[in-house]
Amino acid sequence: MPQSMSIWQNEAVAYLGIDLGTSGLRALLVGADGNPIGAAEQQYPTLNPHPGWSEQHPKDWIDALETALSLLARTYREFSSVKGIGVSGHMHGAVLLDGEGQVLRPCIMWNDTRSEVEARKLDETPGVRELSGNIVFPGFTAPKLEWVRQNEPEIFKNLSKVLLPAGYINRYLTGESVMDLSDASGTSWLDVGARRWSEDLLGAGHMRADQMPRLMEGSAPAGQLRAELAKSWGLSGPVVVAGGAADNAAAACGVGVMDEGQGFVSLGTSGVVLLARNKFASAPEAAVHSFCHAVPDRWYQMGVMLSATNSLNWLASVSGQTPAELSGQLGDTLRPPSDVTCLPYFSGERTPHNDANVRASFSGISSTTSLKDLTQATMEGVAFGLRDSLEALRATGAKTGPLYLLGGGATSRYWGRLVASVLGIQLMLPRAGEFGAALGAARLAMVADSGKDASEVMHAPFDVEHVDPQEELLELFEKAYERFKSAYTGVSPVERTNDGRIE
Ligand code: XUL
Repeated sequence: MPQSMSIWQNEAVAYLGIDLGTSGLRALLVGADGNPIGAAEQQYPTLNPHPGWSEQHPKDWIDALETALSLLARTYREFSSVKGIGVSGHMHGAVLLDGEGQVLRPCIMWNDTRSEVEARKLDETPGVRELSGNIVFPGFTAPKLEWVRQNEPEIFKNLSKVLLPAGYINRYLTGESVMDLSDASGTSWLDVGARRWSEDLLGAGHMRADQMPRLMEGSAPAGQLRAELAKSWGLSGPVVVAGGAADNAAAACGVGVMDEGQGFVSLGTSGVVLLARNKFASAPEAAVHSFCHAVPDRWYQMGVMLSATNSLNWLASVSGQTPAELSGQLGDTLRPPSDVTCLPYFSGERTPHNDANVRASFSGISSTTSLKDLTQATMEGVAFGLRDSLEALRATGAKTGPLYLLGGGATSRYWGRLVASVLGIQLMLPRAGEFGAALGAARLAMVADSGKDASEVMHAPFDVEHVDPQEELLELFEKAYERFKSAYTGVSPVERTNDGRIE
């Protein structure tokens, strides 16, 4: 038995997983056995100053973190035994710091499409796709910095370090500037196959190596929790902070998706189909993402749709109902596909179209179409978008077995059944509840603290509920998927002004 195990048996040890999500932060406390003890959540706003823009204030994240942790500390006595912290965050966001470590402007987020032109130019630069292994999507970090260079030159001049959202929290915790490889994969500055910064990619994006944080594996120790924070949170002894992870890589760690053939579908703000790969496999032509995993020698590929639960959130906001009220009206029994086709491209789309300018549409609406029909069509549009991602991944040769279903949208049974039938794949819902990226982040902290092998800690959920495709509806959904595919008529030629208006 490893020494760390015997220490665990005698001493109370706990870990914290922090997931900086798009709409809020979740802090999860887990025991030495890896089982969740309790969680606290705190929301923060996203600013949309212009169409297609999406920003958050990093200070709001820190306030959310402090509030969530003080709640956990008050509620669970195990909190005082925290020995390790792992952080996961929404990907690609640019947090710009000056020489004093002050934030220069709000974070430009992953779903911000203002840098479409800059992304296209970088993507067309010879060698960029080959080295980064990916399309330079407008949501990625490098084109955001190009946009800042051209539109906010004063800020660009004062730029000393670029951090990603999880890295900003890590810096607050430790004082260290780090970026883990899974998050760095979405910058277009990383040689993803070689797992190191690329001089050529940095040069193409007008960035310098000294502006980059220290690159590291997500499961390795990044530093120690600052003494001041440890004191104010009532923690004794050294607390290690792990390198951390991109939210999707952390979610994969949370359900043990590490090896070829394993994967998940996530119905979060964004929609993701992720498959683990044992080696680096790049396929930019399929508009899939090929990224480093949060543990050494592992990669993954994923298709990303930009608006999954966000699509239903939009319908909820314009109809004055909550997303749960809308989906509740459909009941649990899967219906045949709607006559209405929804393309849920509310903020453009990545996989498979790489089209930042496309916007959502509904077609086939008649005078008898009800709000319930629009809800059904919206959920179907998201399911068909996920199918697009699955097909793109299959085209790269990735294997697919049954997939976990994760994310806030998975709480709707209807949506889960619908996605299983549209993908034609059995889905697995963790029965003990789904702790997603926060659990993965806590597991990274366990590895960083104990030195255990990641494969031992990142295990599959012990108990899952299976959701099977509904055989009698498969053919109908197949036809509806064909209709969905033909409703998209090609990359939108629309040009937008810098503040997001159509020219
Ligand atoms: C992945 C992506 C999103 C964000 C938000 O490339 O942009 O999934 O990480 O969660």
